[in-house]
Amino acid sequence: MLPLAERSAATWRYGVARCKLLRAAFLFFAVIAVTLVAFYRTSQPDRPTTRSAKNGTSLPIEFASTIINDNVKRNNSATTAMAAAAGNKAIGGKQGVILSVDFKGGIGNQLFMYAALAGIAEELGFDARIPDTLPVRSMFNLTLNTIPDQWEATNRPVMLMEGKKFGSRDESLLFHLSELRGIGKGRKWKGREGKRKGSDAVIYGYLQSWTYFSNISERLRRELTFRDEIGDEAARILRACRRGNDGSPLVGIHVRRGDLQALHSEGYRTGDVDFFRRAIAHFRGGDQDGGPTPTPTFVVASDDVQWCVENLQNLHPSIVFLTGNTAAVDMSVISQCDHVIYDVGSYGWWCGWLSSGQVLYMENFAERDSKIARGTIREEYFLPQWLGL
Ligand SMILES: *[C@@H]1O[C@H](CO)[C@@H](O)[C@H](O)[C@H]1NC(C)=O
Ligand SMILES: *[C@@H]1O[C@H](CO)[C@@H](O)[C@H](O)[C@H]1NC(C)=O
Ligand SMILES: *[C@@H]1O[C@H](CO)[C@@H](O)[C@H](O)[C@H]1NC(C)=O
Ligand SMILES: *[C@@H]1O[C@H](CO)[C@@H](O)[C@H](O)[C@H]1NC(C)=O
Repeated sequence: MLPLAERSAATWRYGVARCKLLRAAFLFFAVIAVTLVAFYRTSQPDRPTTRSAKNGTSLPIEFASTIINDNVKRNNSATTAMAAAAGNKAIGGKQGVILSVDFKGGIGNQLFMYAALAGIAEELGFDARIPDTLPVRSMFNLTLNTIPDQWEATNRPVMLMEGKKFGSRDESLLFHLSELRGIGKGRKWKGREGKRKGSDAVIYGYLQSWTYFSNISERLRRELTFRDEIGDEAARILRACRRGNDGSPLVGIHVRRGDLQALHSEGYRTGDVDFFRRAIAHFRGGDQDGGPTPTPTFVVASDDVQWCVENLQNLHPSIVFLTGNTAAVDMSVISQCDHVIYDVGSYGWWCGWLSSGQVLYMENFAERDSKIARGTIREEYFLPQWLGL
């Protein structure tokens, strides 16, 4: 056995030798890698786009506003041809830079995405586009143009941007989108990114904050008038509800329960009887501080009417349950009541937003520390004039 000093010297010499060997190996492989990459790039100057702009839902998106599309080569002849095909007003109007959203979910989710898309596009000067198959198009006469058929076929560069925030405003997303439009503050586009300035973009995200569309809320309110066949049916139901109640107010209630499992797994709570009791008491009428007020009629819509009948029937003498309508007709009825109560969810949120009366929501809408609770910023999700109970 070597004495201690000698042993450490031997170890040291061995270490140096190993270091040199490793460095040589590293250099060798680095040179090979660089050569391969260079060869690959020169041999494939015009790699076709591998991802579809319209249908990219399975793409991995790792951080906010990741730029995923490989194809940064702008095909000017295609762009020009497309602009001509769609008419200058449609595509050329805002320098032809398209912004769309990967729409998903039910009516409430789609409305959030639609409204945010319209608001962001207005703010940043994009040409906002929606899929022609978007289900809420059957409910409203929407004014945003549809995605041109040729869009996918062209080689227009498309950036996929992730809006990561839930129930709050995503400043990072807006920052990256404004950079795309060349109006970002501060940071300059450079290198590879520079080539992407002026690209079209598709947003992935729920975009659930009224702040995205507060600047166009008047326009949106006019636009989000239910189509005649839905509006007429809702009007008929509302007339029936008002009959015999002497012009006293109608209070619409939306109770979200149908997909309880999914709601709970995301951290939502659902409205309990106590919440609805307190909300109904808020509008109860009768002799209050301001003198006698008429007793309202409560109109309940839900994806689980049976639960509502069993649990809410006894909360008030004048309570009506809607059955057998489409979700669109129910939303039209509830939003046209004088006031709205809802527990959780984006469907109820939109019943509230579309109404012109007082809106009560369930203050305690999410499990503590759940994703929903952490992501939601109350001021950016609920309208300031709404009341949480
Ligand atoms: C989108 O992708 C899915 C899954 O790959 C596929 O089933 C669907 O047909 C595609 N839709 C369109 C419009 O290309
Ligand atoms: C550009 O678009 C035109 C018209 O769609 C097409 O004919 C042409 O092949 C495209 N060029 C490239 C390089 O993809
Ligand atoms: C609304 O528009 C004003 C004036 O153009 C602008 O300063 C403000 O940032 C916009 N608000 C939002 C939430 O985008
Ligand atoms: C929607 O558009 C159709 C066709 O232009 C029109 O007849 C209808 O009155 C419109 N409905 C609403 C609610 O604006």
